[in-house]
Amino acid sequence: MHFYVVSVLPEIFDSFVRTGLVGKAVQSGRIEVERMTPRDFTADRHRTVDDTPYGGGSGMVMRPGPLVDAMEAAEAAELARGGARPIRVLLDPQGERFDQRIARELSAATSLTLVCGRYEGVDERARIRMDRELSIGDFVLMGGEVGAMAIIEAVSRLLPGVLGNPESATDESHAAGRLEYPHYTRPATFRDESVPDVLVSGNHAHVARWRQRQSLARTRARRPDLLTTFPPSRDEQKVLDELDAADAATGKGSE
Ligand SMILES: C[S@@+](CC[C@H](N)C(=O)[O-])C[C@H]1O[C@@H](n2cnc3c(N)ncnc32)[C@H](O)[C@@H]1O
Repeated sequence: MHFYVVSVLPEIFDSFVRTGLVGKAVQSGRIEVERMTPRDFTADRHRTVDDTPYGGGSGMVMRPGPLVDAMEAAEAAELARGGARPIRVLLDPQGERFDQRIARELSAATSLTLVCGRYEGVDERARIRMDRELSIGDFVLMGGEVGAMAIIEAVSRLLPGVLGNPESATDESHAAGRLEYPHYTRPATFRDESVPDVLVSGNHAHVARWRQRQSLARTRARRPDLLTTFPPSRDEQKVLDELDAADAATGKGSE
């Protein structure tokens, strides 16, 4: 997967592309992260990428020319390598909320261009040239770079060979619309709290059942909306009914 990142602060990605699993994925050639700065697509002495808003008002707006030219240069590079035109993604707090489903969709592409805004955002004529606008949450960041990193991480870990254990990407929060069960590691007792007995029982079927129950209880308590978006299977419904019955008996929520 080839990620092109259009950003006026490409140096933000310096350690990101060298560190951890992203760094390993880059080194092994499973992903490439190519940074393009719109400043390279300006014609003035100061390499100006922003200007005052028409109609007045505070802040500066990113000029459409350098952004679109950078994005098109990324596309020309990808086509020259024999690839397809990258999907154009604008990071934007007004965009569709990025989630695991979208990460999975994007992981099927061969290349993505992630366009990072700064200042008050991008000129509308750059925005309308995008394939998708994605927000990483209902808050406003200073720029799109952190969102671009979030997308690169979420998408890359779904690509073959990027995670050491491929099951990690299927058996985890949001992979199937459920939050993951709690994890424990050594020591067996930490400040008077012990690991649940079932996890040291060696009985794999009991462990699997316990994890499913915990996962459903957690999802029900923390993200009940997921149970509507991803309706429970018959087996899961049985567990949820048991949890309801346990709550009714004790008078409290059973997470
Ligand atoms: C300060 S923000 C601009 C906000 C814009 N004036 C508005 O109210 O919608 C500058 C840039 O940060 C990025 N950004 C800010 N919040 C974001 C979010 N929640 N998700 C993705 N990108 C975001 C976008 O690229 C945006 O163009």
